[in-house]
Amino acid sequence: MQKVIVFTDIHLVPEGQTIIGLDPCARFVQGLAHALDNHPDAARVVLCGDLTHNAAPPEYARLRAALDTCPLPVSLMLGNHDRRAPFLAAFPDVERMETGHIQHHADIGGYRLICLDTLNEEAEDTHSGWLCPARLDWLDERLAEAGDRQVIVFAHHPPIETGFKGMDWIGLKNRAALIARLRAAGNVAQIVSGHIHRTIQGSAGGIPVAIFKSPCHQMPMALGYQDPSLSIDEPGAYGLVLLTDDGVIVHSEDFSLPPRNAQIYA
Ligand SMILES: [Fe+2]
Repeated sequence: MQKVIVFTDIHLVPEGQTIIGLDPCARFVQGLAHALDNHPDAARVVLCGDLTHNAAPPEYARLRAALDTCPLPVSLMLGNHDRRAPFLAAFPDVERMETGHIQHHADIGGYRLICLDTLNEEAEDTHSGWLCPARLDWLDERLAEAGDRQVIVFAHHPPIETGFKGMDWIGLKNRAALIARLRAAGNVAQIVSGHIHRTIQGSAGGIPVAIFKSPCHQMPMALGYQDPSLSIDEPGAYGLVLLTDDGVIVHSEDFSLPPRNAQIYA
């Protein structure tokens, strides 16, 4: 069995700033330490986009510093709050497509992780996602060459509607094109996303979809037409994806809850 630690929607801000009174950097540092302490045998960490809140160079510098001592390989992905130029200025060695899109893959045992770049810097609404033909064609190639491996696809914008109408409005606009390609490949075991700031399970074209919470601020459980920036101070979390011979298992860990001792009930 292999483990993959997943953080999404970290939303780093410049030092001294907060989001609804929470410090995203402190939360990420706390969460990463928790994950590494409890799962030192993990194979990799995936950061599933919205690395920063404003895509400002000092925010990416804080991410670099926070990852400085991480002993595991890290897959860096972008979300709607990120921008490619400042990200690449801070992480010039990151793997990317010839087009500049931040898409890459990693093989772990019998699995292939494929990380997509759903950021649309030209979106009229600023925050919705898009996968252009070049990114989709690259995906097709990585799916086709996976061989006997099962594939986990990571995409910041989930390829499903969630019932949070404000978030769905800024969702992945061409999700049908993505789902069609994943279905056609026939080897995708799991899709992992963020963007919503809430723990959600669903499926797209018959493929399971897991959406993880942020380590910092969350979407309140208020379905319908809410402002997508509506946020609430609920426990921060990270995801833990187990890759087994029999399939994929998805856990979500609320690391910011006070420590408690487990007890055996009588
Ligand atoms: Fe986010």
